[in-house]
Amino acid sequence: MTTYLGLDLGTSGLRGLLVNADGTPLAEATREYDVSNPHDGWSEQNPEDWISACIAVMADLRAKVPDAYAGLAGIGLSGHMHGAVTLDQDNRVIRPCILWNDVRSANEAAALDSNPDFRAISANIVFPGFTAPKLKWMAAHEPELFGRVAKVMLPKDYLVYWLTGKFGSEMSDASGTSWLDVGQRSWSKKLVAATDMSDSQMPELREGTDIVGVVSAERAGELNLGSNVSVVAGGADNACAACGIGALNEGQGFVSLGTSGVVLLAKDQFVAEPGSAVHTFCHAVPDKWYQMGVSLSATDSLNWLADTVGSSPKALSRALPNEASGPSNVVFLPYLSGERTPHNDAEIRGVFTGLSKTTDLTVLTSAVMEGVAFALRDCLDALRQTGSNPDSLLAVGGGSKSDFWLSTLANVLGTAIHIPKNGEFGAAMGAARLAIVGVGEKSVAEVLTPPAVERTIEPDASLSPLYEAAYEKFRKTYNALKDVQ
Ligand code: XUL
Repeated sequence: MTTYLGLDLGTSGLRGLLVNADGTPLAEATREYDVSNPHDGWSEQNPEDWISACIAVMADLRAKVPDAYAGLAGIGLSGHMHGAVTLDQDNRVIRPCILWNDVRSANEAAALDSNPDFRAISANIVFPGFTAPKLKWMAAHEPELFGRVAKVMLPKDYLVYWLTGKFGSEMSDASGTSWLDVGQRSWSKKLVAATDMSDSQMPELREGTDIVGVVSAERAGELNLGSNVSVVAGGADNACAACGIGALNEGQGFVSLGTSGVVLLAKDQFVAEPGSAVHTFCHAVPDKWYQMGVSLSATDSLNWLADTVGSSPKALSRALPNEASGPSNVVFLPYLSGERTPHNDAEIRGVFTGLSKTTDLTVLTSAVMEGVAFALRDCLDALRQTGSNPDSLLAVGGGSKSDFWLSTLANVLGTAIHIPKNGEFGAAMGAARLAIVGVGEKSVAEVLTPPAVERTIEPDASLSPLYEAAYEKFRKTYNALKDVQ
């Protein structure tokens, strides 16, 4: 049996999904790891934890389905974006990886963003969470460590390096560095030089379906793999999630309730919107792009509430009805780590308003989910301003298990929300599919197909004026809060 593996390096854990040559899931395994927040606005992970998680996930898969594991022909990687993994000249990790939701480099990002070359070439605002400003921050605050940087890598590319010994990246993840010419799909020498970096520090670029190399003999021994397992470059987590649901062509897209919240729409052509806080990135397959709005704390907000009250997201969700019947009186701004789309505001933080003696934990939970939905409405409106107007979106990500959250989203976004048939359609599936295309020599159109839709939640027209008014209040709350923070 020939099988393929998608490895998704998520913010909360690493997930492995083993599929057969048709992309049918055979087994999955997950290992969680921590994010450390040593200061307000900081968010870091230790790359060693990713490796331990990978070893454990592979061992679990082998124990669950030994024959399928023995037939592994290709591995595809997906990962959280923008993180800076820095290696010294002996390929040792210099410091913990600074993650996508870390906003410490706001000053450096603003300085780079004031150089017009960045928006013109990279097609995006230089956001504090992107990779280039992180290196500028290191240069300013950790000059000794910055001086030792021989290579800079994105998180999932570090796992590719660990598996194959090859330093590489691919277009979708490279798009979020501020060093890529997103239209031309190549590193921009000008932007690299503008951050006091050199070409030799940049990984070699590929397309997401390209084979990087084979798993090295040392790793194959450690992971009990055969001698000829290929590793495919893969993609950024959002690009891989789009591959998992076959969102490749103009207008196809999703709304994701993951650690971050994302509204993504695929693009047939490169169209830059550098004046807006919409992101324009290369897709994980050749000749395709996508645009998305990103809210930094989606399930992260619910996790925060659960941790704070000593509960779990599951328990909090269980206390809510299946359907939202109107907006809450309590407003929650989910800006626990600042916000990207539409505000590009690293300083703003979250708030609850409208608390009263009748506010209980259930009300707070619904307000958190609603606040995240409003932040995603901001993302969708930013995309609408660029001319896209989807009438439906597929829902993906861990938070999409909550029907209350999904029905709130349908009402707040004013679009139908499709829920894929029970099965696999996340970033790990997208990564496994990229491995099938790259190693199995199948076409993108053959493998990256949309899932069957199980059901659709339509917006409730009778509630829409109420949600519109509540959204207006949410927007005003941000403006008012900005003045006092
Ligand atoms: C996208 C972004 C997040 C991360 C983590 O720009 O920062 O969605 O990829 O999922």
